[in-house]
Amino acid sequence: MPVSPRVATVFACQTCGAQSPKWLGRCPECQEWNSYVEEVRSDAVRPAPAPGAPASALPELASRETPRLMTGLPGLDRVLGGGLVQGSVVLLGGEPGIGKSTLLLQAGKGLSAGSRDVLYASAEESAQQVRMRAERLGIRDGRLLVLAETDVSRIVAEAESRSPAAVVIDSVQAVEQPSLSSAAGTVSQVRAAAAELTRYAKARDVPVLLVGHVTKDGSLAGPKSLEHLVDAVVSIEGERGSSRRLLRATKNRFGPVDEIALYEMTGEGLSELPNASATLLAERRTGLPGSAVTAAREGTRSVLVEIQALVGAASAGSPRRVAIGVDGGRLALLLAVLEGCGVPLSSREVFVSCTGGIEVNEPSADLAIVGALVSSARATPLPASCVLFGEIGLLGEVRRVPAAASRLKEASALGFTTVYLPSGNAGDAAAFADLDCRPVDRVSDLLARLTGTRS
Ligand code: TYD
Ligand code: MG
Repeated sequence: MPVSPRVATVFACQTCGAQSPKWLGRCPECQEWNSYVEEVRSDAVRPAPAPGAPASALPELASRETPRLMTGLPGLDRVLGGGLVQGSVVLLGGEPGIGKSTLLLQAGKGLSAGSRDVLYASAEESAQQVRMRAERLGIRDGRLLVLAETDVSRIVAEAESRSPAAVVIDSVQAVEQPSLSSAAGTVSQVRAAAAELTRYAKARDVPVLLVGHVTKDGSLAGPKSLEHLVDAVVSIEGERGSSRRLLRATKNRFGPVDEIALYEMTGEGLSELPNASATLLAERRTGLPGSAVTAAREGTRSVLVEIQALVGAASAGSPRRVAIGVDGGRLALLLAVLEGCGVPLSSREVFVSCTGGIEVNEPSADLAIVGALVSSARATPLPASCVLFGEIGLLGEVRRVPAAASRLKEASALGFTTVYLPSGNAGDAAAFADLDCRPVDRVSDLLARLTGTRS
């Protein structure tokens, strides 16, 4: 017997979805302030279990694996782990105006190329607006079905009758289930919509792509509360005023996370920049102090990125320490290690940034950060064609890092000639005859060698 939803209210955090019977000024789960909003409690919010499938033996399940659908955008396919899995639900998160609708319209074109329909449900824009964007993107074929609709049940009904190859929902914050009295965009609406679409995706084995807006302002339900409901979360990022966009998977049940793809927003939509390393280094000015190149890992690939450091004048009081795109804690550690090696920076202002809007959060960038700091402090550029990677320990030792061979390969492919790397990784260097590999054991080794190779 169906249980009728209880008409009682509950206070829900609009950022993480935590609930409380009374209003709270600060969310105990995610620490957000003023994020609690009163909502109507409804049992419909909980996803219903999938219709009872019997348990199956593992070999049987493996044989059911379906081929993936290609979106026609190689970067997006790679980030998804090799295309879109049938029946999967993917959340594409990003700030308003970053290019989510553009990306999914382009993906819709690719998905419908195999003479199948793709349903593009636009809850934010009119069908006419979608058409105008599609024209700009050069999409003229008739297999992209545009539905301007906010009622999630009607979207699912349309999908049921059209059996498309894939469904796009733009955006999950703008669709609603009118049976719930809370407003569109609240956590309970967003979750209810996502749950209904997930049920559809799993029952019909059709992939569903959800657009989710991410804002710092708490008025929109944070797609964070959806992350556990969906199979994959892909984020699209970019700096204000820059046309470059970075796509990465932050969760993926069907592939690796942290795979990246670089795109450029052009007049005809997003176009992939195939060689990430070359692009990230393109604007680099060589011969200036404070610049060092490292080989970082992004997913299963190595990319070369530039680390810049600026060591300023000594300041009275506590000097500023600014880390952009690199970990602030690691920067503090590296400054302390340098202090111990006779490079006194404790009273000077220090700025370190990873250029290209990318973040390098792995310790293997330590050696390049130190290289950039020392180069800036001594006002001496590092050799232009040199790459540094290696983790630095508290005792000033340089520790081995994973995937050294792949990093060396990328350095060699982009024409770099000298690599400073941990002695522990020296074995991997033997295969690269074109590279002058210089193993370092301690930070002091690096400092001595850099002094010796002044250029
Ligand atoms: P959009 O996909 O609408 O962003 P979102 O759905 O994430 O809010 O794209 C917004 C911006 O992209 C808009 O400012 C215009 C720009 N744009 C281009 O530069 N070229 C294009 O071909 C398209 C379609 C958009
Ligand atoms: Mg949009």
